[in-house]
Amino acid sequence: MKFFVDTADIAEIRELADTGLLDGVTTNPSLIAKSGRNFLEVVEEICGTVEGPVSAEVTALDAPTMIAEGRKLAKIAKNIAVKVPLTWDGLKACKVLTGEGTMVNVTLCFSANQALLAAKAGATFISPFIGRLDDINLDGMELIHEIREIYDNYPALETEILAASIRSANHVKDAALAGADVATVPPAVLKGLAAHPLTDKGLEMFMADWKKTGQKIL
Ligand code: E4P
Repeated sequence: MKFFVDTADIAEIRELADTGLLDGVTTNPSLIAKSGRNFLEVVEEICGTVEGPVSAEVTALDAPTMIAEGRKLAKIAKNIAVKVPLTWDGLKACKVLTGEGTMVNVTLCFSANQALLAAKAGATFISPFIGRLDDINLDGMELIHEIREIYDNYPALETEILAASIRSANHVKDAALAGADVATVPPAVLKGLAAHPLTDKGLEMFMADWKKTGQKIL
């Protein structure tokens, strides 16, 4: 499974990129607003920080303007994935932009039929939002299972399932079990994935016993 981080905070992105385990970044207009920075500048900086796909979202609602915005965003760097919403206009824009060789992430997906349409439109990534479905008492993870099954029924569909709106470590694990290709994870949740109290306790014991030997490796 690939790990993307869901943030526009460049310090957080750098810290995670330094682990060598970060495969990409997703942003959205809310995350850009939270960063307080200029959209085009921060996206360019992120693209220079990670090698993998960096999702940057269009803000137009009609296909022609989405396509124009997408073309402008795609010029920022080779690793831009233009993010378009799952509307008919977004699907039209997806078809055109992927036809031009640009990666496209179709976002705000809340149903299996929407995911099927995005794949038919040639999306590079489909972003089903797990947490927002859970928020309204629906089953976000069930959607990941459904999309996986549908995509696997049609091997010609190459769209990657990008599990989004992840809120917890369990969401990451369950999305991996469901066969999501990618998880985009908030920085705090991503950093928390390595934590386990028994790891800390075990390491403490090993260090105490190692000290007793009086030895050094270097
Ligand atoms: C994905 O690309 C979105 O930016 C994100 O996962 C949305 O998550 P939220 O529902 O926690 O805002």
